[in-house]
Amino acid sequence: MKKMILLNPGPVNVTERVKMGWNRPEICHRESDFTDLLKGIRKKIKVISDVDDQYTVVVITGSGTASMEAAITSTIRKKALLIKNGVYGDRFEEIISTYNIEKRVLEYPWTDRPDLSEIEKALIDEPDIDTIVMVHIETTTGLVNPIDRVGELSRRYQKVFLVDSVTGIGSEYVNIMKNNIGVCIGTSNKSLQSFPGVSFVVIRKDLLDIMKENKRTVYLNLYENHESQERGQCPFTPAIQTLYTLDAALDELIEEKIEGRIQRYKGLADYLRQGVKGLGLKLLLTPEYQSNTITSIFLPDGITYEYLHDRFKENGFIIYNGLGNLKKNTFRICNMGDITLKDIQQFLGFLETFIK
Ligand SMILES: Cc1ncc(COP(=O)(O)O)c(C=O)c1O
Repeated sequence: MKKMILLNPGPVNVTERVKMGWNRPEICHRESDFTDLLKGIRKKIKVISDVDDQYTVVVITGSGTASMEAAITSTIRKKALLIKNGVYGDRFEEIISTYNIEKRVLEYPWTDRPDLSEIEKALIDEPDIDTIVMVHIETTTGLVNPIDRVGELSRRYQKVFLVDSVTGIGSEYVNIMKNNIGVCIGTSNKSLQSFPGVSFVVIRKDLLDIMKENKRTVYLNLYENHESQERGQCPFTPAIQTLYTLDAALDELIEEKIEGRIQRYKGLADYLRQGVKGLGLKLLLTPEYQSNTITSIFLPDGITYEYLHDRFKENGFIIYNGLGNLKKNTFRICNMGDITLKDIQQFLGFLETFIK
């Protein structure tokens, strides 16, 4: 099968060094070799998350949604305030409802940021809310949500702040400590540039006591996973080979530095957006709402997503559709992973040809 340039929002292209993880010897997860691997990964996730020893990490075998479910079920005591403006906010709502956890939901248009005064009012009116839940980068559109401002509110009203930064960690400043984030979710197969199958939760240690009391699931309770991981074990069989690739990807990120990766992705996104606009196409979001990795673009008149997708695929590129109401008139291009400026230039060249 020929190599594709993946311009979808994960899984992403990875380097040869990361792929080498698959070639590591088979090991037993009850042996010291695995303990060393797990210990290294948890330490490196702390480094790339820029947190100190008030924080700890739980690695979950399962995609980003598994960590969303682990975080929700382990953290919320009584009631959540969910702030949502896209499909990953909807997914949080589905998880919260599935476990019959009480919630107040503040919903905003997919192209808008949440209203801070409404959030504050909900916190004042409903003191039984214990956790604020929010997505950092809404992959639905690429919108950057104001985790700094909501973080301030969580501090002022003494609420736990639970953030899905699955599309943020590695490509944006998350500032977990400064933004009072108590629980932060990330994944291996987006800006960390590894393979799918493993995700993680960065947790402020004082929340572990709450997590001990909140045992709503067997596989995903963060307290029990943490207890086991502190002993260098996973309670269940982990995706060992994916963990090897994640370990190599974390080494790469630490060498490139978070700042370096953010700037590299931002440079690619800026170039892409200039190029797209130069072809006369319009972007969905205003510049100040745009992330460093996802660009939602209006389809040109008379051209369908399916047509563009198929032409790009014939030429070695995978692009991604819009969602919901945006499906019929937008598509998404993501510049995460081991891709280069040359790939973006080539993409723009094809785009020019296909829309003519
Ligand atoms: C913001 C966000 N949260 C959560 C997820 C869920 O991750 P997964 O599909 O790996 O379960 C995604 C996936 O794209 C995402 O973009």
